[in-house]
Amino acid sequence: MMKKDMFNQAQEIIKNAYVPYSNFRVAAVLKLKNGETLTGINVENASYGLSNCAERTALFSAYAKGIRKEDIDSILVYTDKDYFVSPCGACRQVMSELMEADADVTMANSKGEMKTIKNKDLLPLGFSKEDL
Ligand code: THU
Repeated sequence: MMKKDMFNQAQEIIKNAYVPYSNFRVAAVLKLKNGETLTGINVENASYGLSNCAERTALFSAYAKGIRKEDIDSILVYTDKDYFVSPCGACRQVMSELMEADADVTMANSKGEMKTIKNKDLLPLGFSKEDL
């Protein structure tokens, strides 16, 4: 499964985003080291702050299946905008714990452009379980 396949999958599932308030659709595709993929979309709520981003939906679904950080290769975050959208602070915090430091985080837009950054570079000086 190449990045282009992850991109195609994101384009298919973004229609499932539940976004009655923002109408801003996001899809995330998680690639496992065994080649399998898992997906997530953003799920909003009338109590706006309870909305869940696509990245966290994908990661929490994976963990619910018993998948752990060492099983995860990378994540692709797709929006149907023609510009890049970067993961929010809450998702960076969650990704820093639930994915390996060297895992790739790819941002993809509707033009098919992709930009990849390492998980560890998204949250410099972040709080972690080592701080507890
Ligand atoms: N959102 C995501 O799902 N992922 C991101 O990386 C950025 C923001 C969602 C949250 C909310 O449902 C909508 O986009 C607008 O903020």
